[in-house]
Amino acid sequence: MERQTFSEVLQNWYHRNKRDLPWRNTKDPYKIWLSEVILQQTRVVQGMPYYNKFVEKYPTIIDLANADDNDVLRLWQGLGYYSRARNMHQTAKIIANELHGTFPNTYVGLVKLKGIGPYTAAAIASFAFDEKVAVVDGNVYRVLARLFDIETDISSHEAKKVFNDLANELISYKTPGTHNQAMMEFGATYCTPANPGCMFCIFHYDCEANAKGKQAVLPVKSKKVKVRKRYFDYFVIEQSGKLMMAKRGAKDIWEGLYDFYLVESQDSLLEIEATDNDFLLDILPVSTIKNTSEIYKHVLTHQTIEVRFWHIVINEDKGIQIPLDYDFYTWTEVEDLPKPILIEKYLKKHYIEFQS
Ligand code: ADE
Repeated sequence: MERQTFSEVLQNWYHRNKRDLPWRNTKDPYKIWLSEVILQQTRVVQGMPYYNKFVEKYPTIIDLANADDNDVLRLWQGLGYYSRARNMHQTAKIIANELHGTFPNTYVGLVKLKGIGPYTAAAIASFAFDEKVAVVDGNVYRVLARLFDIETDISSHEAKKVFNDLANELISYKTPGTHNQAMMEFGATYCTPANPGCMFCIFHYDCEANAKGKQAVLPVKSKKVKVRKRYFDYFVIEQSGKLMMAKRGAKDIWEGLYDFYLVESQDSLLEIEATDNDFLLDILPVSTIKNTSEIYKHVLTHQTIEVRFWHIVINEDKGIQIPLDYDFYTWTEVEDLPKPILIEKYLKKHYIEFQS
């Protein structure tokens, strides 16, 4: 199929079938950027409320640049991949302060910025500035692998070049932004991973996977993510109605979010009778264990975590030495802090226990 024919068929489909999404009615690079960062990890239905909240609270990149770190993470809470929010905030500051609030308007200028990779740079450059540069993400891999029967492993290094070259050969010269949107929409809503609607597909007669019955095996992806198992016991330490929390540091999940006192164990959850943790040994004799929670299973891309919470109330009059970086927060303060969604769930479920 020729480039022009392919793109025309695709864009015709798009005009008839596209979802009316708020970031499609704008040329504002900031809003396009925000929407694409959100959609890289979330489906449209789940991402939309986050997009709307962000645009309402931070309507321009200057507003985002001036925001408080905690507030940005709190608004992002539940989306996961918190480094994306932190990078976006940092990059907003750079654009606001060093680039006079003006977004770079080319792919090359965009891709230099922290947190803006090839996909996001291509999306912003083409949607906002109509630059002829193809977006390539999982949706695009799937559509192209099927249409052209490409068996290159999409987790391999060479796949980037193979799919990128092909996507750039196919892109429309006249309307590259709409072409890219159409590719993404077609992959996301029609040429889906499971049970694509090949019978009535616009590419029914052109698609090699359809002709050969290879829809289920394309794209090829060999590398499985290695999943690490972890065991977290959280000690929810309460004194005088306040809860002990600290901001998590770098080099592990949830950087910048707040959590409780954590004891991580190797092969199973903690055996509290056998613990040699100094802080626990100090506080347990002057405290009451009010509740030991059910076990939560928290599944992330590269790790699954078994989590148990211990609600420990320290007797009012006992002075204790708390570990470095921790502080006690009132319930209202705790609500406002950015937290892993798991902690949010635990607190919601055990709300009554903390109010009594
Ligand atoms: N997923 C991520 N970006 C998208 C877009 N622009 N259109 C449809 N689905 C998407």
